[in-house]
Amino acid sequence: GTVGAAGATGLVIGAAGGIGIAAVVEDPDPAGSPALTTVGSTEVMFHGKHQAGITTPLQSRGHLVAFDLAPGAGRKEAAALLRRWSATAKALMAGRPATTGTDTGIALDAGPSSLTVTFGFGRTFFDRTGLTARRPAQLDPLPAFSSDVLDPKRSEGDLWVQIGADDALVAFHALRTLQKDAGDAARVRWQMNGFNRSAGATARPMTARNLMGQIDGTGNPRPTDPDFDRRIFVPQGASGAQEWMAGGSYAVFRRIRMLLDDWEKLPLDKQEKVIGRRKSDGAPLTGGTETTEPDLHKIGPDGRVVIPDNAHARISAPEQNGGAAMLRRPFSFHDGIAADGTPDAGLLFICWQADPLRGFVPVQRKLDRGDALSPFLRHEASGLFAVPGGPAEGEYVGQRLLE
Ligand code: HEM
Repeated sequence: GTVGAAGATGLVIGAAGGIGIAAVVEDPDPAGSPALTTVGSTEVMFHGKHQAGITTPLQSRGHLVAFDLAPGAGRKEAAALLRRWSATAKALMAGRPATTGTDTGIALDAGPSSLTVTFGFGRTFFDRTGLTARRPAQLDPLPAFSSDVLDPKRSEGDLWVQIGADDALVAFHALRTLQKDAGDAARVRWQMNGFNRSAGATARPMTARNLMGQIDGTGNPRPTDPDFDRRIFVPQGASGAQEWMAGGSYAVFRRIRMLLDDWEKLPLDKQEKVIGRRKSDGAPLTGGTETTEPDLHKIGPDGRVVIPDNAHARISAPEQNGGAAMLRRPFSFHDGIAADGTPDAGLLFICWQADPLRGFVPVQRKLDRGDALSPFLRHEASGLFAVPGGPAEGEYVGQRLLE
């Protein structure tokens, strides 16, 4: 981190999620202005093996924005853009103004606030930049699913940027600055806003809840699991079209509308059977606490399995999918009330995996065939992006592809 002599003390989070303590912001008033709280002063590292914003704890604000290269812009312009974007991301994540001449001052007074900026490349990027030979097969289009109602204008894109921060102004500032940095090289294709619970809202750190009220994220693989890296990140030493993706990950994005009016009519016991977990504390219906393993074979007094055959958490469990696993790191969204009077709200579902064909695709195929949650959901937009590894000191994001 940037260690100033009179800096306030705060948390520093490595891109891979490790937490340390360091001085992170210059004290603007050496005469003794108060230090920032840990919410404002927490800084996530820009450089590292993996990009920030994948294993980083969920932030309370998120923006997703996809860009298409402008007509006439190719590899040279894309490389210059990623260089500008990386410089801005690095400065803003450290709580400093942008150096690209695009800063608007919206984040003045705030510390880094756990800002992360994560960059990815969509399938269409490669033809436009003459890099088709280096496009990984993992970017082949996702299969169509029966429950898809996808809007192509709000899906995919040449470039994808995920922004997260624990302050709304810091997040918007990053969005605005990166958009201005795009200049004539790329245009916004679609943009979405999301949120999670604010730091400090609960008495102790807890797994997030989604807008259906469920504890969501319990089954996620943990960075301390022995097979975590293998499941989530492309291995160092990857070869062929994947060579530049070493240390990277594939992000699947879905804008999933929740049909909340229907969901909220369902009595609590039925809601819990849809997932297979208790709403109050996220514990499996077979008992214990949130972290107790569900007993998928346990039979109830009525002679049926306690966790129903079509329960979401049963169908999506890695054991039921040949080990297919992903790291889910979503934001909720609420874009007001739709024309039909129902909330335009749901989940900006983002999942991370080393290979979408061994993560999202097989699981979504099964969910699509008979998940009890599906009648309450509508997949409205989709994206698949190759998110390269983290930049080494002196490098920009994507340099190994673009140079
Ligand atoms: C688990 C909700 C969409 C994959 C869960 C759980 C909830 C939940 C409440 C149980 C707690 C947990 O382990 O996190 C939702 C909602 C969705 C949604 C509200 C849509 C708005 C999806 C999609 C996928 C998916 C699209 C992937 C294709 C999983 C996986 C688990 C899970 C892998 C963990 C299973 C385990 O480890 O045993 N989800 N989910 N979910 N969900 Fe979803």
